[in-house]
Amino acid sequence: MTEIVQIGHPVLRQQAAALSIAEIKTHEIQSLILAMKDTMQAAPGVGLAAPQIGESLQLVVIEDRAEFLQRFSPQQLAARGRKPVPFHVLINPVIRQLATETIAFYEGCLSIQSLVGMVPRALRVAVQALNEHGEPITIEAEGWYARILQHEIDHLNGTLCIDRTDLRTLSTVDNYLAFGTS
Ligand code: NI
Repeated sequence: MTEIVQIGHPVLRQQAAALSIAEIKTHEIQSLILAMKDTMQAAPGVGLAAPQIGESLQLVVIEDRAEFLQRFSPQQLAARGRKPVPFHVLINPVIRQLATETIAFYEGCLSIQSLVGMVPRALRVAVQALNEHGEPITIEAEGWYARILQHEIDHLNGTLCIDRTDLRTLSTVDNYLAFGTS
């Protein structure tokens, strides 16, 4: 597992560089993708962007495993629109909001340890990107998956969820678990 960069490190505030199809196919980038997968799974987390392991590249991995959903009630899962998402890779993603409505939930980040806050996010988004083979992919997502996509693609533009958080909702994870209401 590679170390996850924490807030305050300048790499988290940089605009990440796009990758060419030739670069995507190199051993270096394929190894980086595997390292990101391992790091995300070990953390554990539902997404990881390359800047979070110190690489300012437009590369994201996402996976929301069924086991992560077990600590939520059916009502919480329904409110969040949260369902398992299989592992996948996004390179050079371009995101577009498909809904003007937003919904706010507590959100955390592996680069902001032990803190969560309420973050409003668009309900539905579309993403165009390349996969790990350099092939174009299009995703339409809603609910929690749409939130993950917005969070991870923000990382590639130097934006952290805390920038979008209502700071009065900022909470330690322990206090969120004790006092959080949604
Ligand atoms: Ni994050």
